[in-house]
Amino acid sequence: MANVTVIGAQWGDEGKGKIVDWLASRADAVVRFQGGHNAGHTLVVGDQTYKLSLLPSGIVTGTLSIIGNGVVLDPWALKAEVEKLRGQGVEINDDNFAVADNCPLILPVHRELDGLREAAAGSGKIGTTGRGIGPAYEDKVGRRAIRVCDLAHLDSLEPQLDRLCAHHDALRAGFGEKPVDRDDLIRELKEIAPFVLQFAQPVWKRLKKVRKAGARILFEGAQGVLLDIDHGTYPFVTSSNTVSGTAASGSGLGPAATGFVLGIVKAYTTRVGSGPFPTELDDEDGRMLGERGHEFGTVTGRQRRCGWFDAVLVRQTCAISGVTGIALTKLDVLDGFETVKICTGYRLGGKVYDYLPSHAADQAAVEPIYEEMDGWRETTAGARSWADLPAQAIKYIQRVQELIETPVALVSTSPERDDTILVRDPFTD
Ligand code: IMP
Repeated sequence: MANVTVIGAQWGDEGKGKIVDWLASRADAVVRFQGGHNAGHTLVVGDQTYKLSLLPSGIVTGTLSIIGNGVVLDPWALKAEVEKLRGQGVEINDDNFAVADNCPLILPVHRELDGLREAAAGSGKIGTTGRGIGPAYEDKVGRRAIRVCDLAHLDSLEPQLDRLCAHHDALRAGFGEKPVDRDDLIRELKEIAPFVLQFAQPVWKRLKKVRKAGARILFEGAQGVLLDIDHGTYPFVTSSNTVSGTAASGSGLGPAATGFVLGIVKAYTTRVGSGPFPTELDDEDGRMLGERGHEFGTVTGRQRRCGWFDAVLVRQTCAISGVTGIALTKLDVLDGFETVKICTGYRLGGKVYDYLPSHAADQAAVEPIYEEMDGWRETTAGARSWADLPAQAIKYIQRVQELIETPVALVSTSPERDDTILVRDPFTD
């Protein structure tokens, strides 16, 4: 399989950054295909730390980096990120970076609406990243989005602006807000347009060309399958499809191009924002997982909720996303626990479930059924082969693999790129 698609198999924050960085260093092109600057990861290369939200990870090493049509693009966030990286010495030009010209834009009105809705929702709020992601996707599907290609035609934008503003002005009135300032919006778009347009092109064509030339393409997913708009814990989800199949529709290559689907899976579970979380721990164990795992959001700095590994959820997400193999991350966070627990099923209304039911109330009410295993005292941090791992840690990995019915391709044992146990190479296997 020449290409690799990386997706988060839980609620995001599985440690995709390190794995994607390692794969990106061996890829010829890296493609973001969904989400926007709600994603966030930190890359450590040599003595430099890079924080990326929107740009594909390949950008840091000069690999061709592409933002596909499935992404919602905040042009101001893009400019800020490009300028910040350039300030750190990263070369970004129209040769190594491209943006799909059919990408919908995130506008200031989307960010505002995201904030207004969350503020008004009280305890029912989603806990979004406040980046305007949801409202921008709504406008895309509502066929009133302004897209990257429109930036080259700003003088004839009136009909689109009419549609967009009619919708937003009505919503804003409901929140007691003033109508959209059209002149201001046009002025801001005119200002940013040249910056975005220098990278804009039909990326499906570029990808077709590199694919024909035998390039290895890495599709870099953001968030996680449990935040997928269809398959996630609706309505506590993001507004895009985060499953592997989106790599095809969100970039303009056919489904066969997705290649090896690598699901990134944390050895325990975390979630940011609201919504059901069956194995959440509100005790000392949960606090320890959060502390040892440094569980704070890269984008918002929010503390993540923590819990035991949920094999029911990961079996489900691996099936839904057709995961070929998983990368198990942050195993070392479990070092030193006397016992570790794995959720193997749910109890609800006298019945046992081997999957997460679809209804939000059921998702909130399921009670986890746990299997308990002895923990391990020794450290797994920095292990690079099975021989470096304590026997109990190997047993844990094997049990995870069995329960999720998907093989382990990699085990990551520290944030360092080389602290990885490679079982199957996604690019060559
Ligand atoms: P939105 O994507 O900003 O609309 O947020 C919707 C939900 O997805 C919220 O629960 C966010 O916390 C969550 N979310 C969005 N992006 C990420 C991410 O990169 N990692 C983890 N959670 C995320």
